[in-house]
Amino acid sequence: MSTDKNTKQVDLELRQFIKNLGYIAGGTALLITVPWLQSFTTDKLSEIKNEKARVAILGTGSRGQYHILNLLRIPHAEIVALCDNYPPNLKAASDLCPKAKTYTDYRKMLESKDIDGVIICTPLNWHAPMVLDSLAAGKHTFCEKSMALTMDECKAIYEAYLHTDRVLYFGMQRLFDEKYIKGLSMIHSGLIGDIVGIRCHWFRNNDWRRPVPSPELERKINWRLYWESSGGLTTELATHQLEVSNWAMKRIPESVVGMGDIVFWKDGREVYDSISLTYHYRNGVKTTYESLISNKFNGLGEQVLGHKGTMELEKGQYFFEDVAPAPGILQLINNVEKRVFSTVPIAGPSWVPETASKQKPHYVIEGMVHTTSGGSMVGAENDGSDNLISAFCQSVITGEKAKDIVEECYSSTMLCLLGNQAMKEQRKVDFPDEYKIPHLKF
Ligand SMILES: NC(=O)c1ccc[n+]([C@@H]2O[C@H](COP(=O)([O-])OP(=O)(O)OC[C@H]3O[C@@H](n4cnc5c(N)ncnc54)[C@H](O)[C@@H]3O)[C@@H](O)[C@H]2O)c1
Repeated sequence: MSTDKNTKQVDLELRQFIKNLGYIAGGTALLITVPWLQSFTTDKLSEIKNEKARVAILGTGSRGQYHILNLLRIPHAEIVALCDNYPPNLKAASDLCPKAKTYTDYRKMLESKDIDGVIICTPLNWHAPMVLDSLAAGKHTFCEKSMALTMDECKAIYEAYLHTDRVLYFGMQRLFDEKYIKGLSMIHSGLIGDIVGIRCHWFRNNDWRRPVPSPELERKINWRLYWESSGGLTTELATHQLEVSNWAMKRIPESVVGMGDIVFWKDGREVYDSISLTYHYRNGVKTTYESLISNKFNGLGEQVLGHKGTMELEKGQYFFEDVAPAPGILQLINNVEKRVFSTVPIAGPSWVPETASKQKPHYVIEGMVHTTSGGSMVGAENDGSDNLISAFCQSVITGEKAKDIVEECYSSTMLCLLGNQAMKEQRKVDFPDEYKIPHLKF
């Protein structure tokens, strides 16, 4: 249960987060470039006073329990209901918040008048039916990423959102992560020049399998491994990073090519364990996306390449292209260390490697930056998830929709699904006209 100390901490963190952002981007500029934060200025935060959002968690597996732990530290949230159709997970969640009423049938739970908002943390194939039912039941709704398993489902959710007065959020926590917001704001202010390319990757060394107590539960527990319930590495991981890529570019790529394979984990799974995709923006910029789960050497990251510098958003650091050349002796040592003599001809100007002088990073945030190894399927600390769920609870109280969150998730999910199509059909796939929504700029 929450303690006074923890409660105060989250409240202060959220206020400090907004204050820090105002400092970097300067009030109104921030609100234009990060429109979803318009609802969370310090003034608006103080408006909610002692009110509480009465929320239900639908899907109390690992991500559901992670949100519960954050919600217990948020003063304007009260967990009133829990729903899961797998008893061990329902019990584990109930142990965390024993006062919450428990359900096994989510439709029954949606009938309750005591619930203002529903937080959906179920496998991807359940997102669309649950979001649509929750909105139809008049509940403010938060759903984990990705938006849905199919393009038609995404479109149906978007249409429902247009016609509801309820609040709808998706679990895209980078939208509330200080280092991303500041880093992207610096990119947009021209710090690294024109964007000429984007490289995203997510590498892990983990089979993604969970232990199954009896064989008939395999597809339920290991839902991530099967196409009927998962989009694999794209919808599980790439969705976050493609959203960042679009945020940097302020537009959406119009086509994608790629290859996907099962290279290592040949254990009966259906989804690829190794993918490589290239997304093409109309102005020629390409986002390359690589992910595999049998080598973690490279971790995760998004590098935005500009003609004057490079921003590494996950690490919260950037580098400039023009670095003072190192003195001759240092170049020599550097070359010996890197053993470049064997490959670079020792004659004429070409013998000096372009990056002979070691580039020093500059930091987006003064002090410690929280980075994640990306190894967990549950969630990381200080990655924006707590601010995001706190913001949702605030919206549940005020009824104010946060701008663009639905559209950000719609576009990145669509790109994941198109990436999967490109890999399965082994061809270039264009963003289909029938799924273009007015918000998207190509
Ligand atoms: N934003 C992030 O960084 C992040 C991180 C991890 C997971 N996720 C997302 O969270 C969601 C859940 O992932 P997870 O790892 O917690 O999965 P999980 O398997 O641990 O939990 C899912 C839970 O949903 C329950 N469930 C399934 N169908 C149900 C139904 N019809 N009615 C009631 N309960 C049902 C399952 O029994 C299970 O307890 C996924 O969409 C995943 O992509 C997001």
